Amino acid sequence: MDTVEEIRRMSGYGGDVIVVGGFPASESESESESDLAAGEIMVIWAIQGPTSFAPNALVAQSSLELRLDACGHSLSILQSPCSMNTPGVTGSVMWDSGVVLGKFLEHSVDSKVLSLDGKKIVELGSGCGLVGCIAALLGGNVVLTDLPDRLRLLNKNVQTNLHRGNTRGSAIVQELVWGDDPDPDLIEPFPDYGTHLCFISSPFVHTISNTSFFAVHFVVLGSDVIYSEEAVHHLVKTLLQLCGHQTTIFLSGELRNDAVLEYFLESALKYFAIGRVEQTQWHPDYRSRRVVLYVLEKKSKRCLTDESSLNQSC
Ligand SMILES: C[S@@+](CC[C@H](N)C(=O)[O-])C[C@H]1O[C@@H](n2cnc3c(N)ncnc32)[C@H](O)[C@@H]1O
Repeated sequence: MDTVEEIRRMSGYGGDVIVVGGFPASESESESESDLAAGEIMVIWAIQGPTSFAPNALVAQSSLELRLDACGHSLSILQSPCSMNTPGVTGSVMWDSGVVLGKFLEHSVDSKVLSLDGKKIVELGSGCGLVGCIAALLGGNVVLTDLPDRLRLLNKNVQTNLHRGNTRGSAIVQELVWGDDPDPDLIEPFPDYGTHLCFISSPFVHTISNTSFFAVHFVVLGSDVIYSEEAVHHLVKTLLQLCGHQTTIFLSGELRNDAVLEYFLESALKYFAIGRVEQTQWHPDYRSRRVVLYVLEKKSKRCLTDESSLNQSC
């Protein structure tokens, strides 16, 4: 299959991304969101052939514990395989895309194409909490979130793995239901608030204004959070509520349903520039052809076609 890939950099991630759409002055700028989303699905399924590979090759979902080395620590993530029999419960075990995203963050920080130090980070649909724990070990001030009845296991995993003294950043667990208005703490200071006070010389520079210390970039993380059309609708609304023009989103997903992923991309491309991170930039030991990893940043105002339609479309 012949494809011409356009490579870009995004402001909160220093590695290359392959343009999916939504960038200013891009070859894709004139294409509709639905054409861009359909094109991406064709490309990704053709390149990765996900159906030929077994799901969850990186985690044993039947085990009560997942052990993983990250950031110089041996992490112990408790799972509850039995809870997966309860309808609607999906986060009581880990998923491959969570392991991929966590190890990608570690690898990117080690490779100096990403800094999470001192950044405010919100993780959506944290499940067992591996990704948020790794982000805190990498220096982020992380809020791990999930549905209200999913927080017990999440809390336990955070307490087990993060202690004062072993963690460069911090971690708290909080309820967040996609589509509901987020707790004001989650968006305080609002992602755009610091920008006029800050002098920005590089994507990774933290800025000092008098005695205040602003992290220029906010980060939102999500692994395997794109899995049903109904969830997509609420997820995109929450992403928009959490994101200002200084926010970078990292989403990893499992390639199990082309229609749902296409629906997500089409919805998100209305508001976000989206780039795909190639597997060559992931942690070399944690790659999977059933997983895809995207970076999203809010479109520049010039590219934003109709932000006022948010409430109708999400
Ligand atoms: C497939 S699991 C992925 C869990 C984890 N991120 C991982 O990679 O292992 C999806 C997660 O999203 C959460 N979730 C689903 N719908 C949600 C909603 N409407 N609001 C908040 N969280 C939700 C689930 O409880 C679950 O933890």
